[in-house]
Amino acid sequence: MNEVNVLVKVVWCTMLLGHAGRAMTVIMSDGGAGTDRREQEAVYDIMRGTGNEWATDIADVCRGRWHGIECMPDKDNVFHVVSLSFGALSDDTAFPTCHPTRSFISPSLANLPHLRTLFFYRCLTYNPQPIPSFLGLLGPSLQTLVLRENGHVGPIPLQLSNLTHLRVLDLHNNNLNGSIPLSLARITGLRSLDLSANKLTGPIPAFTFPSLNVLDLSHNVLTGSIPSSIWDSQSLLKLDLSRNRLLAPLPDKPLPLKNLLLLDISYNLIQGPFPVSLKTLTSLEALILKGNPMGSIIPGDAFEGMQSLLILILSNMNLHGPLPLSLATLSGLRVVHLDGNHFNGSIPNSFRDLRRLTELRLNHNRLTGSLPFDRQIVWRMKRKLMLNNNSGLCYDATSGFLDSTFDLGIPFCHPWTPLQHLTSLPSHSLPATSPSLPILLLPTFLLFTILFF
Ligand SMILES: *[C@@H]1O[C@H](CO)[C@@H](O)[C@H](O)[C@H]1NC(C)=O
Ligand SMILES: *[C@@H]1O[C@H](CO)[C@@H](O)[C@H](O)[C@H]1NC(C)=O
Ligand SMILES: *[C@@H]1O[C@H](CO)[C@@H](O)[C@H](O)[C@H]1NC(C)=O
Ligand SMILES: *[C@@H]1O[C@H](CO)[C@@H](O)[C@H](O)[C@H]1NC(C)=O
Repeated sequence: MNEVNVLVKVVWCTMLLGHAGRAMTVIMSDGGAGTDRREQEAVYDIMRGTGNEWATDIADVCRGRWHGIECMPDKDNVFHVVSLSFGALSDDTAFPTCHPTRSFISPSLANLPHLRTLFFYRCLTYNPQPIPSFLGLLGPSLQTLVLRENGHVGPIPLQLSNLTHLRVLDLHNNNLNGSIPLSLARITGLRSLDLSANKLTGPIPAFTFPSLNVLDLSHNVLTGSIPSSIWDSQSLLKLDLSRNRLLAPLPDKPLPLKNLLLLDISYNLIQGPFPVSLKTLTSLEALILKGNPMGSIIPGDAFEGMQSLLILILSNMNLHGPLPLSLATLSGLRVVHLDGNHFNGSIPNSFRDLRRLTELRLNHNRLTGSLPFDRQIVWRMKRKLMLNNNSGLCYDATSGFLDSTFDLGIPFCHPWTPLQHLTSLPSHSLPATSPSLPILLLPTFLLFTILFF
């Protein structure tokens, strides 16, 4: 189950659709002069290199009107190539595809001095090769470099640090190894850095990007602690460091990340104490820490003031002690996973105030006492209310919110009730369902990516 991946995929498609739409508008505004000859030759070379020989029959590439090339006239009405894109994203964005086994990125690319966007999606996947260092020669003109799911191997070339005007660097899902170059810090205007799903090792460099909105280093083999410079990146909207081997507790001082919407540090080796600093993230909509061996209690006031929080995922963290009372004050909460811990005591009555909950997992804990929810809450969540495998949790049959078609996975509080036979149903009959993604999370991200392109 992967609520955040769903989110990212939606954003990704939208951003590319917007991108393709713009490409057409530019070409339509064509005035009459031709494409710069040297750039035209470079485009032919690049198209041949990717198995798109058909393009060399086009007399003027900027009038070729294929999705994936974008041109702009200069003051003398000579057209320059500003964007090149490859890869079948969806039926609606048919950029040229690449020959599956013999494609490469032509060095002639360096002859496109006006290029702002370079985009290769699933192009070199079956002909694995390093990221060419000559991309650094594109220097300050390039703003967007996307080499996504492109089969690249080897290290991130240091020469990419020459692309000092990049705003988007996306190397998601390749086989890149080695460490993250500290020299990337030269790209001071970076808005989005996505190095996720590679094999990068070593620590996260202590870089600062004053305008960074998205930092995704998830699914790598990064070690060490999270540098404090990252916690000081005030413009961050999304921080995803999940599925690495990061150690050390999170900072215990107030965090200046005033715009952060999504924080995912799940599946690392982060230990306790539970960071009280998190409650200073008042704009946060999703907090995902599951799968870290934190092994601590959660202070009662840990979530006080996190009024924007919609999703809280703290499964399998060895957390113990009582459920934190401050949770009940977060009236916007939609999805809460606290399963697979050692929480004990009863579910506070104030949890009734979570009127918007659509999914609550408390299973595999040591909770006791009677379930404080009324019929309405239980029926809204139905099978997304998971309670099985707790030491002494029960429901009061006299509250009457159940009928024989619905098994909560916990026994009645009073053993003499006539419906007692229900309690013998196997608790694992509750299927593990994916959480529903709150729609509210989407608009901010969409808006953000649209502004980008
Ligand atoms: C990097 O930039 C420097 C100067 O800005 C230039 O001399 C060098 O050739 C560039 N190297 C690469 C590989 O891009
Ligand atoms: C990166 O992977 C290549 C094989 O693709 C290997 O030869 C090289 O030693 C690796 N480098 C590091 C730093 O792990
Ligand atoms: C909960 O567990 C802690 C140990 O983690 C114990 O000290 C405490 O008494 C327990 N509380 C209840 C209500 O069982
Ligand atoms: C019940 O939950 C505990 C964690 O509190 C877990 O260790 C145990 O394996 C669970 N038992 C079953 C039968 O799932």
